[in-house]
Amino acid sequence: MTAVKGFWNEQARKHGTGLAATTPDPIAKDLEIGALKRHLDPAPDTLEIGCGNGTDILRLLDHLRGRVVGIDYAEDMIEAARKTVSELDEADRRRVTVDVGDIMKDMAPLGHFSQIFTVRCLINLPTLEHQLQAVRNIDAILDPGGRLVLVESTRQGQDRLNAMRGAVGLTPIPYHWHNHYLDQEAFLAGLPKHLRLVEIDSFASLYFVVSRVFNAKMTPPGQAPDYLAEINKIAGQLPSMGDNAPLKLFVIKKERRP
Ligand SMILES: C[S@@+](CC[C@H](N)C(=O)[O-])C[C@H]1O[C@@H](n2cnc3c(N)ncnc32)[C@H](O)[C@@H]1O
Repeated sequence: MTAVKGFWNEQARKHGTGLAATTPDPIAKDLEIGALKRHLDPAPDTLEIGCGNGTDILRLLDHLRGRVVGIDYAEDMIEAARKTVSELDEADRRRVTVDVGDIMKDMAPLGHFSQIFTVRCLINLPTLEHQLQAVRNIDAILDPGGRLVLVESTRQGQDRLNAMRGAVGLTPIPYHWHNHYLDQEAFLAGLPKHLRLVEIDSFASLYFVVSRVFNAKMTPPGQAPDYLAEINKIAGQLPSMGDNAPLKLFVIKKERRP
């Protein structure tokens, strides 16, 4: 895991507070933020684990009304996130805290939250067992009745997307060396029983089909597809359909009486 952490520290040193530190795809980020706004309750204090350079927190501050805490195990990401926070107006600065913290360690010093979310954090953990241990660590600081929102990528979604690419003669999109996409069925089956799946929002399905199949196929051989191609922008404005992207959002509720 040290090499993965080194990768994220390097991304932070290279891109600072810029979006490119955590994603090459601005439209996918817009869709993530839109989905989070649909599924995060504005009222409670909220914790983001794997907050990177603070992009999500910054863009959710007009939605979340309570205290917002972000942690990330990459020290350089947190340094960038602190810069992001230092540029907020005073009222927001007072309700946002970012700090170094590891989802694989005891997070009790952070206190308890009734709302916790991740965005492409669990996919950096090397095995399903690590991913389930991370959820148990979250569970330890999630209030009964609380909400866990996971924006993560699945192997099943990646397989379906790659099957579509194959149908039009494109090669499969490979996994990044540092990623271990969730095995959706095994992951959901392994959740503690008192963590109940309420909804899966395949918010990026249409966008991924358009950007990774249509736009990729229309791009001349030898050129890299443009993330901001017109057709991608159009897809980003449409309601999603189907379940053909790796990236999706899981809403999980913690029962009041485990
Ligand atoms: C793809 S980036 C996403 C960052 C941010 N959520 C966003 O969407 O802009 C994944 C982040 O998870 C962090 N991360 C990976 N493993 C972690 C762990 N064990 N504990 C805390 N953060 C971790 C990385 O350092 C990185 O900043």
